[in-house]
Amino acid sequence: MKSYKIALIKGDGIGPEIVDEAVKVLDAVASCSGFSLTYDELLMGGVAYDITGDPLPQETISGSLNSDAVLFGAIGGEKWDSLPREKRPESGLLRFRKELGVYANLRPAVVYDELANASSLKPEIVKGVDLMVVRELIGGIYFGEPKGRDENKGWNTMVYTKDEIVRIAHQAFKIAMTRQKRVCSIDKANVLDVSQLWRETVEEVAKEYPEVELSHMYVDNAAMQLIRDPKQFDVMLTGNIFGDILSDEASMLSGSIGLLPSASVGAKIGVYEPIHGSAPDIAGQGIANPIATIASASMMLRYALNEQEAADKVDAAIKRALSEGYRTGDLAQFDAKEVCSTSEMGSIIANYIVK
Ligand code: NAD
Ligand code: IPM
Ligand code: MN
Repeated sequence: MKSYKIALIKGDGIGPEIVDEAVKVLDAVASCSGFSLTYDELLMGGVAYDITGDPLPQETISGSLNSDAVLFGAIGGEKWDSLPREKRPESGLLRFRKELGVYANLRPAVVYDELANASSLKPEIVKGVDLMVVRELIGGIYFGEPKGRDENKGWNTMVYTKDEIVRIAHQAFKIAMTRQKRVCSIDKANVLDVSQLWRETVEEVAKEYPEVELSHMYVDNAAMQLIRDPKQFDVMLTGNIFGDILSDEASMLSGSIGLLPSASVGAKIGVYEPIHGSAPDIAGQGIANPIATIASASMMLRYALNEQEAADKVDAAIKRALSEGYRTGDLAQFDAKEVCSTSEMGSIIANYIVK
């Protein structure tokens, strides 16, 4: 029997609660799909800092590189917010992505028909939304030098090299070829030199994909258009910080940030992670929505393990739980037949996995 080794990084806040539910669903789907999964639990974030003094212990990097894929929960919390920057949980996560080389973060935002009422927008605006943010993940202002601060000044630098833009653009065009063949590249080329290079480079790469229709949009307009008419978008290609912001915005088309998964790819080992954070305001209460993490596990089955049928089964089980009216607290006021806890939702989805 095929066996895969999954590096599990639960992290902080709701991280352990949501990852446990994804594991429940993965075990259910493995048992009826002819493969087995083993898990290697690794530390990152505040919990890693508390135990080892480092938010990203070397063991977590080597353990992840030694696995078939990484399933990640979330990190961060107020407890660690005043640490020096390099000790903060967020720095651990950024360093992790960089060390693994996962430069492409794929963030699909899909509106489930059953949840069209759950969006803060009108149902007719969001029904049928199916877009993909392709976010550059290991460059841009998150990593550019110089950066620093003193008493009276703080500075970061948005830098992209041509090579970095070329490789993320290829990812976006390749994904578009499997979808509606439209890429909208998001930048601020009217103001930023880095964006001017971004736009010119994306234009060059586009020549290799004549079937794909390329458009460009300034990021401020994109933030508005995403709310005005989200169905105009197929693939949104963005740099690191623009994609971070626009994908959180896109999550509210679907009704809750607790629904949106992601895949961080482009290197040998991929990281599969919900787009949301550690939600300290609801941690420990058993009310977080585990669907974003379960859907990330499905992306892991699909992209990292090439277990398409198993991924389809997980996606179908999520859809069924929603269409039968099961809702966690974040979606409780929207056509809920039954409001359930994090763990109940995980069990319901696991039980809906069909042989
Ligand atoms: P957040 O995404 O953690 O939470 C924002 C809001 O969404 C909160 O009200 C939270 O309760 C809600 N929410 C998030 N996930 C949910 C879920 N699964 N179910 C129900 N509700 C959910 O963002 P924040 O509050 O700005 O950040 C909290 C901490 O998380 C910070 O330390 C931040 O740095 C960190 N963070 C980590 C990641 C990550 O690990 N990838 C991502 C974003 C933020
Ligand atoms: C995310 C988070 C991270 C990011 C933070 C916690 C470093 O917001 O995964 O979206 O900005 O990339
Ligand atoms: Mn974010």
